[in-house]
Amino acid sequence: FKTIGILTCGGDAPGMNAAIRALVRTALNQQMKVYGIERGFTGLMNADMRRLSSPSVSNIIQRGGTILKSNRCEAFKTAEGRRQATAVLRESGIQALICIGGDGTLTGAHLLALESGIPVIGLPCTIDNDIYGSDDSIGFDTAVNTALGAIDRIRDTALSHERLFLVEVMGRNSGLIATQVGIACGAEMILIPEYPIVLESISNTLASNRKAGRGSSGIIILAEGTEPGLTARLAEQLQQHGEEPRICILGHIQRGGSPTGHDRVLASCMGATAISYLLAGYTDVMVGTLGRELIPAPLGDIIGQRKHDPRLYEMVMMLHK
Ligand code: F6P
Repeated sequence: FKTIGILTCGGDAPGMNAAIRALVRTALNQQMKVYGIERGFTGLMNADMRRLSSPSVSNIIQRGGTILKSNRCEAFKTAEGRRQATAVLRESGIQALICIGGDGTLTGAHLLALESGIPVIGLPCTIDNDIYGSDDSIGFDTAVNTALGAIDRIRDTALSHERLFLVEVMGRNSGLIATQVGIACGAEMILIPEYPIVLESISNTLASNRKAGRGSSGIIILAEGTEPGLTARLAEQLQQHGEEPRICILGHIQRGGSPTGHDRVLASCMGATAISYLLAGYTDVMVGTLGRELIPAPLGDIIGQRKHDPRLYEMVMMLHK
């Protein structure tokens, strides 16, 4: 390959910049030209791109967000949008594309690879870590640690006032952030979309925990995608049982900030590996992790699949008691 393109798409995640840096430096070492495509698939369709040099990716490994910008692109979901993008790639002489992002980005990458015949490699990069076929994704570790930093502070005030806090963390369809955060902050309870919730049983569990001598303060972690309006309904129900709950929605602070060491190393290794996959002739795959190993995971096998870790959740249920 003489010329490749790189883009970041969908919700940003800490470590995107570290991945861009590794991709650029590894590709330049292989005498490739690298184009950074701005604003994800939207920029690709509009030929919005610039050459990336080695100095252009200096001092970005520690920065959150993405220097290439990102957005969610509806037009790329259509075959016409992808035809337009294919024409741009051909006209610009871009012979292969690396797409960094989550579920929607990897779905777009898969369809583009199939329809255009141009080699495409994906990097799983989403704070939600909900990509089937990879144990880990760039940004997840940082998001978990950002949430934990906030919750440790909330715990101080919860203890002082002997109050319950309902803390909502991100995770559109997945409880993986909530589960990790809940375990690591010692939450009284973790509520996630993967398991049905019976509101009454929550106050019963809390009441029996109190009887068993657990204090009246506490943290309940809820994944954003559990049930629409669940956090407010649960607060209301707890109030009826004599609690004085407070709600805290952590929101987009989980998407920003400097990536952790783990995410910087993961992004660097995945970026370098993506270039080696291209050179080895792979296309339509993502760089996935299986335990500590990096593996090529066919995009066609992972799209539309749900990732879940029931063993982890069984342990969580035991910790509630
Ligand atoms: O996919 C990452 C994520 O942060 C989800 O956890 C969340 O539901 C969604 O993106 C929010 O997207 P937006 O920033 O477009 O509102």
